Amino acid sequence: MLTALGMYPGDVRVFGAEAAGTVVEVGPEVTGLRVGDRVLGLVDDGFGPLAIADGRQLGLVPPQWTDTTAASAPLVFLTAYYGLVDLAGLVAGERVLIHAGAGGVGMAAVQLARYLGAEVFATASEGKWEVLRSLGLDEAHIASSRSLGFASRFPSVDVVLNSLAGEFVDASVGLLRAGGRFVEMGKTDIRRAEDLPGVVYRPFDLADAGPERIGSMLGELLDLFAIDALRPLPVTSWDVRRAGEAFRFMSMAKHVGKIVLTMPRVWDPGGTVLVTGGTGGLGGELARHLVSVRGMRRLLLTSRRGLAAPGAVALRDELASLGAEVEVVACDVADREAVAGLLSGRRLTAVVHTAGVLDDGLVGSLTAERLSAVLRPKVDAAWHLHELTRDLDLAAFVLYSSSAGVLGSPGQGNYAAGNAYLDALAAHRRSLGLPAISLAWGAWAQGNGMTSGLTDADMARMARAGLPPLSVEDGLAMFDAALGLDEANVVPMALDLPRLRALPEVAPPLRALVKTGRRAAANGHAATAVSLAQRLSSLRKTERSRAALDVVRGEAAAVLGHSGIEAVGSDVEFRALGFDSLTSVELRNRLNGISGLRLPTTLVFDYPTPLAVADYLLTNLVVDEAPAVSLADEVDRLEAALLSSAVDEGDPQHLADRLERMAAKLRQAVPVPAGKSSEEDIKSASLGELLDIIDDELTLS
Ligand SMILES: NC(=O)c1ccc[n+]([C@@H]2O[C@H](COP(=O)([O-])OP(=O)(O)OC[C@H]3O[C@@H](n4cnc5c(N)ncnc54)[C@H](OP(=O)(O)O)[C@@H]3O)[C@@H](O)[C@H]2O)c1
Repeated sequence: MLTALGMYPGDVRVFGAEAAGTVVEVGPEVTGLRVGDRVLGLVDDGFGPLAIADGRQLGLVPPQWTDTTAASAPLVFLTAYYGLVDLAGLVAGERVLIHAGAGGVGMAAVQLARYLGAEVFATASEGKWEVLRSLGLDEAHIASSRSLGFASRFPSVDVVLNSLAGEFVDASVGLLRAGGRFVEMGKTDIRRAEDLPGVVYRPFDLADAGPERIGSMLGELLDLFAIDALRPLPVTSWDVRRAGEAFRFMSMAKHVGKIVLTMPRVWDPGGTVLVTGGTGGLGGELARHLVSVRGMRRLLLTSRRGLAAPGAVALRDELASLGAEVEVVACDVADREAVAGLLSGRRLTAVVHTAGVLDDGLVGSLTAERLSAVLRPKVDAAWHLHELTRDLDLAAFVLYSSSAGVLGSPGQGNYAAGNAYLDALAAHRRSLGLPAISLAWGAWAQGNGMTSGLTDADMARMARAGLPPLSVEDGLAMFDAALGLDEANVVPMALDLPRLRALPEVAPPLRALVKTGRRAAANGHAATAVSLAQRLSSLRKTERSRAALDVVRGEAAAVLGHSGIEAVGSDVEFRALGFDSLTSVELRNRLNGISGLRLPTTLVFDYPTPLAVADYLLTNLVVDEAPAVSLADEVDRLEAALLSSAVDEGDPQHLADRLERMAAKLRQAVPVPAGKSSEEDIKSASLGELLDIIDDELTLS
């Protein structure tokens, strides 16, 4: 603590001076310790995966302690023990004043002094008095460490264990009875013994005890822990990759007990890795990666079909040829009993849960069965795995989730919910101190698992949306990179930032990533929207229709990947042009951006041709400043003119053709009857068709 705060005198570096872990090697003269022993004690440079220690300063970790608890104990208890027992010689019936009694050494010292049978007085900042009460001190034995009131509140004492400075030292010396012992563990206000006549002044550093004595004190302390005479202090732990946060927290001095930095867990190559869905697309790729790159030797691959799944036998043989022991087991991981049976008697080091199924459809079409089918392997299975492995001391618990849960994905309400659950479960597990990471994957390239049903057009559409699929190589590299992070939720996916920036809208979680560009794009679209409205308003009515139509055809061509608008017939239905449910949404989004309108998601189903959409745009966009004209009056006028002699002046056949075309356009322009276009009522007849199409066509990650 003092080192971290820059308060330790001199050039001493005492970071990581205590640790706990497993012995991986012993020197020739070390006795009493073997490779594989769990030990705790004083070490050099303990903030890392490997530390070198003097074997004499280590002891065996009590079996019921975690490494984190074990790492918290040595320094504070050794310091308290050395100060109170060796230096002060505190004995039963004596009175001792322990300053900063709610601090780490203070809490250890209060426990130890009470065990020794002394009457304990302690100071602490008022906010931490509860800590002292919890250690068994009553109000008469507690005072503030921020004022000198203790000197008048407390009776004279035999021993002071000090860590305060200045006038607090003087006041404490004043409390000592003649011949009392003043044991100074502070570093900032060391006095000369001759200036303190009548008391035994013992400034100290734990290292003064020497390795032999440190080792024997550790043994004595562990004996006291074994009989419950002492209890470890409360611990707050941080992964070492977040050491900065830990030190910031420590510098606020609000914590109680010890702060411990933990090392990322290493997968034990002798342990088994369970890969659920291990015979699936991504599960199989991962299994290869675990063996050939991460050096794992024991895999347990499960799926409902087990070895009967396509490619499972070949996968097993391939992995075996790489030197791995592989078991492929048929097991429905949503079935708790089946999972319990699967795990029984195995020594797992990691779980990677990739099992999952798709059953896409708009929310209105999701029956309980369809919801359950998708949630079972995500929600039920993950929870069973969580509960049934929580005592197995896993090095990793990895959940294969999907960006559908993070970004949303049309037609995947059930799947998105299932994956969001996985993300939340990872956070929950970590709050319990259990390992967990949820990887919300973007889509992997075709041919790999769930995306194998996607067409080239689907892939092209995703690429246009700025979210190109991941190659297997990149995906596996991301797996490794993500596992190196200390995060509950990671979204490994490929982003085409220039494309994303050019889009009129991006999913909210991506906005920060494409901020600058998006603003520019949004401004650009706002400007376009204004100019589109202005441009159309400024045109003559006949020209407006053509201009609006060109806009719609241009955007439709862009969505379909055509180079020009010629490929998009004005009155050809969007479906016939090649639009499916997702490209329809994309067209609507583009038109939203360009027009500044909020068009219905069902736009191209309610207005099925470019012409109809263009008219819809015109109706909603153009502020027509021309005086309102009654269409009926105009038709009357036309009729009168047609029936008059003036008709003879032109070509009657030509006029009749024009009128017929106008009538056809008029019919097309007539809005679809109310109810059919309602966005809200997705069960209505016109949308039934939409649902069918989406059910048939949606197969996204
Ligand atoms: N592929 C992608 O682009 C992508 C993108 C984002 C997220 N993901 C996620 O990654 C995971 C793997 O996807 P994938 O593409 O590899 O899919 P996949 O090829 O369909 O593999 C899924 C595996 O899960 C198994 N499975 C399904 N239900 C199960 C159950 N109840 N118990 C045990 N096994 C079960 C399947 O085998 P059986 O049918 O024999 O049980 C299959 O082996 C999924 O969770 C998916 O959500 C994939």
